[in-house]
Amino acid sequence: MADAACLLDAGERLGVAELRALQLERLRASLRHAYENVPFHRESFAAAGVHPDDCRSLADLARFPLTAKEDLRAHYPYGMFAVPRERVRRLHASSGTTGHPTVVGYTDGDLSMWADMIARSLRAAGARPGDVVHVAYGYGLFTGGLGAHYGAERLGCTVVPASGGMTARQVQLIQDLEPRIIMVTPSYMLTLLDEFERQGVDPRGTSLRVGVFGAEPWSEEMRREIEERLGIDAVDIYGLSEVIGPGVAQECVETKDGLHIWEDHFYPEIVDPLTGEVLPEGEAGELVFTSLTKEAMPVIRYRTRDLTRLLPGTARAFRRMERITGRSDDLVILRGVNVFPTQIEEIVLRTPGVAPHFQLRLTREDRLDALTVRAEARPGAGPEAREAAARSIAAAVKDGVGVSVGVEIVEPESLERSVGKIRRIVDLRP
Ligand code: DLL
Repeated sequence: MADAACLLDAGERLGVAELRALQLERLRASLRHAYENVPFHRESFAAAGVHPDDCRSLADLARFPLTAKEDLRAHYPYGMFAVPRERVRRLHASSGTTGHPTVVGYTDGDLSMWADMIARSLRAAGARPGDVVHVAYGYGLFTGGLGAHYGAERLGCTVVPASGGMTARQVQLIQDLEPRIIMVTPSYMLTLLDEFERQGVDPRGTSLRVGVFGAEPWSEEMRREIEERLGIDAVDIYGLSEVIGPGVAQECVETKDGLHIWEDHFYPEIVDPLTGEVLPEGEAGELVFTSLTKEAMPVIRYRTRDLTRLLPGTARAFRRMERITGRSDDLVILRGVNVFPTQIEEIVLRTPGVAPHFQLRLTREDRLDALTVRAEARPGAGPEAREAAARSIAAAVKDGVGVSVGVEIVEPESLERSVGKIRRIVDLRP
C-alpha cells in the first residue's frame, strides 16, 4: 500500500517523544476537567490524597484512583457528566447484562473526535474515501452502528446503514449496492455467510474486500474462517461505550498484528486485575483507559475488565494491544483452570465435521462446575464423523487448555444464530 503514509492524519504522524508530551499535556487537562466538574472524581481523588496538580509525568497517573463499572452505575444516569446536560448532544447506553445499564454522553466535540477516530480506524483497515461501507452493527443505544456510521461518512464513504437483523435482505443489499467494506460483529458475519450459501450465492464473488470486526472476542481461527469463505481481509476493531464506543483501537490491514491504540485520545495502562497495580509494559493484565480529550464524560483510569497486553508500535507509532483474550466476566474457572470462550473457539473452528457455531453450557454436578461444549455438526456429517469430532474437541481442550469438558455435537442449524454480540456461555448453575 504505497499511498498509506500520505494518508495518515496529524496525530498518526507524531513521533513517540512528541506523542508523550501531548499525552501529558492532555492528561493534566483531563484530570483537571474531571476534578472540577464531576463530584465523584473530586471525592475519589481526595480520598486517595491526590490532586490533578500532582500529575507531573505520565507515570504519576498510577497514583490516581481507578474507576469501575459499578461507579458509573452508582451515578446513573447523568452523575458522571462533566458538562451541563444541555451541552450533551447524544446519549448511548451500554448493553448492561445485569442491573442498571450505564449511560454515556457526547458533546458536539466528542462526536467529532469519535468520527475522526473511526475514520482513522477505517483508513488503517484499508478503506478509502469513496468506498461503499455496509454497516451491520446494530443502530440504537449500542455505540456500534451510529459510531461506525458517522466515522465512515467522515472518511468520505457512502454508508449503507443496514444495522443488525433482516439477514436475507442484507445479503441482497450487499449484492445490489456493492460495498467494498463491511463493519459487523464476527459472529453475525458467520450468520450472513450461512445466508449467502443458503441463497446459493458464492460469498467470494461479492464486492467485499475488507471486514472490520469487533464488539466481541474472536480468534485467529475465526479470522481464517471468515477470510477464506468471504475472500476478504478481516481486521479487528476495539472499543467500549464508556471510553467512546468503537474506534479506541484498530488493527492495520498491512500488518494484522494486533490493534494500534489511538493513544493521543485514550491513554492505556495494564493493571493486575486483582491488586489494581500497574504492570510493566508487555505483561498481560486488565486494560485501563483514561480519556485525554473527552468533554461530556471524561473517564479516569476506567477498568475495562478486558484482558490483553501492550506491545510497541509497528505500522504506527502508537502502542498496540494484543487481540483481547477475553473479559474477566467471561472467564470460566473450571477446577482451578481458567477457560476463555476464545480458546474453545479456536479448537472448534479447526475441527473437521463441525460448523463454526458453538455454545458453552455451564452446569453444576455434586458441587463441581462442569462445562459442555455444544458444537453444530456440518450438514452431511454422519454419526461416525460426529463422534470423531466430539473426541477430537475433548482431547484438544484437555491438551491445550488443561481441563476435561463434555462435548455434544448437535444437529446442523440447531444453535441460536447471532445478530449482534454473541453470548457464548449459557450458565445453568443454580
Ligand atoms: O462493543 C463497541 C464496539 C462496537 C466495538 C463495534 C467494536 C465494534 P460495548 O457494547 O460497550 O461497546 O462493549 C464493550 O465489548 O469491553 C470488550 O469486552 C468487547 N469488545 C469490543 N471490541 C472488541 C474486540 C462496543 N475487538 C466490550 N475484541 C469491551 C474483543 C471486544 N472484545
